[in-house]
Amino acid sequence: MRIAVLGTGKIGGGLGERFREAGHDVVMGSRDPANGVPYAEAVQGAEVTVLALPWRVAEETVVTLGGLAGQVVIDTMNPYANHPGQAALPELYGTSGLERLQELLPAARLVKGWNHVYAHTIRTSPDFDGQVATVLLCGDDEAARGVVAGLAREIGFDPVDVGDATGARYLEPLAGLMIRMAIPLGRGFEMAFRLLTR
Ligand SMILES: NC(=O)c1ccc[n+]([C@@H]2O[C@H](COP(=O)([O-])OP(=O)(O)OC[C@H]3O[C@@H](n4cnc5c(N)ncnc54)[C@H](OP(=O)(O)O)[C@@H]3O)[C@@H](O)[C@H]2O)c1
Repeated sequence: MRIAVLGTGKIGGGLGERFREAGHDVVMGSRDPANGVPYAEAVQGAEVTVLALPWRVAEETVVTLGGLAGQVVIDTMNPYANHPGQAALPELYGTSGLERLQELLPAARLVKGWNHVYAHTIRTSPDFDGQVATVLLCGDDEAARGVVAGLAREIGFDPVDVGDATGARYLEPLAGLMIRMAIPLGRGFEMAFRLLTR
């Protein structure tokens, strides 16, 4: 599959590397010509586009991409208001970053994924002594969620479908909990969420 990854930082770099290892044709999109091609060029002909940018530039960037009609778009981002002048976090539980992006890209098939997984886990391994990290996925297009679930399995994660785009209202705050545990509570980055089922 042809996969465009926009942003060559911790998440984009990690997912790009894993998808390439899984045999996909990965095109890195970057502001820096040394790291990739311009974002709008990277998405040309892609079947899947990964958004791995800071939220503060997400809305202004996605509207420059030509609509991404029909593409599966994986949104890994968390809409934290951590910059002066940045728009506030979308009302928790009333909406989400994913839903805002779906409004901006009505013909694209957005799926939230990996927003609650540390880049460290992607870059090292999703396997914790035989227990595999869960990646919770949501979005309005069921088939698109299936495509992303397949990609997740290929790179070693256990995908769990949490339904339509409103699921992002819960997945985005979950990332906040993850960061709280890692940094202020000092647990570090050697951890991931796993859904237990029976
Ligand atoms: N780090 C994590 O563990 C983690 C986990 C889950 C979700 N996330 C989410 O994933 C997204 C990316 O996070 P990250 O940790 O990968 O961040 P990062 O390492 O800072 O990478 C972000 C990338 O976005 C691109 N970018 C475009 N405009 C930018 C700007 N104005 N300022 C800075 N970078 C800009 C840059 O790539 P180019 O220079 O190549 O264009 C940059 O490398 C965020 O929304 C974050 O909430 C992160």
